[in-house]
Amino acid sequence: MRKALPNPIIEGQAPTALAPMQDVTTWEFMKVVDHFGSPDYYFTEYFRVHRTSVLDKHILYSITHNPTGRPVFAQLLGENLEYLKRAAGELGSHPVAGIDLNLGCPAPKVYKKNVGGGLLRNLDHVDKIFGVLREFSPHRFVVKARIGFDDTAPFEGLLELLRKHEVDLLSLHGRTVRELYWAEVHYDYIKHAVSALPCPVLANGNITSYRSAAQVLKETGCHGLMIGRSAIRNPWIFRQIRQHLSGEAVFQPSLGDVHDYIQRLQETFANPGVPERAWVNRLKKFFNFIGLSVDPKGAFLYEIRRVKSIKAMNDILDRHLLREPERPFSIEPYPGLVARPNRESPVKPLAQAQPMSAGA
Ligand SMILES: Cc1cc2nc3c(=O)[nH]c(=O)nc-3n(C[C@H](O)[C@H](O)[C@H](O)COP(=O)(O)O)c2cc1C
Repeated sequence: MRKALPNPIIEGQAPTALAPMQDVTTWEFMKVVDHFGSPDYYFTEYFRVHRTSVLDKHILYSITHNPTGRPVFAQLLGENLEYLKRAAGELGSHPVAGIDLNLGCPAPKVYKKNVGGGLLRNLDHVDKIFGVLREFSPHRFVVKARIGFDDTAPFEGLLELLRKHEVDLLSLHGRTVRELYWAEVHYDYIKHAVSALPCPVLANGNITSYRSAAQVLKETGCHGLMIGRSAIRNPWIFRQIRQHLSGEAVFQPSLGDVHDYIQRLQETFANPGVPERAWVNRLKKFFNFIGLSVDPKGAFLYEIRRVKSIKAMNDILDRHLLREPERPFSIEPYPGLVARPNRESPVKPLAQAQPMSAGA
């Protein structure tokens, strides 16, 4: 029997979720996002499950010491039935909203081991995994998937399995594994999943602002929205979506607010045991996305990508964010700017999925 989702913050409103992102959606980042306006749900980065794996204690901390007060789903990445059953059982004693299976990770080192997105090449095995997690997950059983591997051939079969095993929620990234992160998102496939499944669907992929959130809700009819990179760039996005959907004035952050956000990231990540260079590099991952909305020519991005010390970093932040602190931070990324490295892999050329109307 399917379990209903936990209540959203505003009863009756489409829920939002912070997407699982390895090395990003840690306890620290969840805490920062919560400060600026929490999504309805959080997903952990993945727990890698294999023969000798134990639950990663840093990821587990975001569950046992959840700094948000909102439900957290625990994501698993693996393929072995016994080990997945063991991990789901171990999570049983912890306050998770559900167990989420990763069926989307496109990193070659992952999919080559037939886990993450690689599983979409073997739906018979996915059938078995769903069976085990449905039976042994003490909480909800939810899935995060892409629309196919090389192409969308597995899509209908995947939908059938999601129905068969009465999955409680599907978060659907509207790209194939081969399409990585920057190809156009196939919202028509998300729309099809919404109409074909009895469970709620969270649409995922390139939801960049409250405006595109409203557009995707309308276009796909989805239950809610999952947002990753744009929440790194703009941690107010969940609050803005709530305001927009409620018909309220939408908060417009200024560059001064962005400085405050970065200050919070710095404070939350502060760890005297970490060498300066590693700390700066960790923050750079966030600047990479934040910089897409600071200035249209990308001058901030250019400078901050090259920074090596905290002092140089703070100089750049002061110059670009505090000289005109009232200047608005762009709601959408400025056209032409790209976060780098962008996780695109040179391994294979991008294959484009066919539109839904051409037959999934
Ligand atoms: C840095 C990074 C790490 C990611 N790690 C995970 C992960 O651990 N599990 C997962 O299911 N997806 C992961 N993803 C994919 C995101 O959850 C999401 O599906 C994708 O970024 C598309 O959504 P967006 O356009 O809102 O960013 C990751 C994405 C990024 C950019």
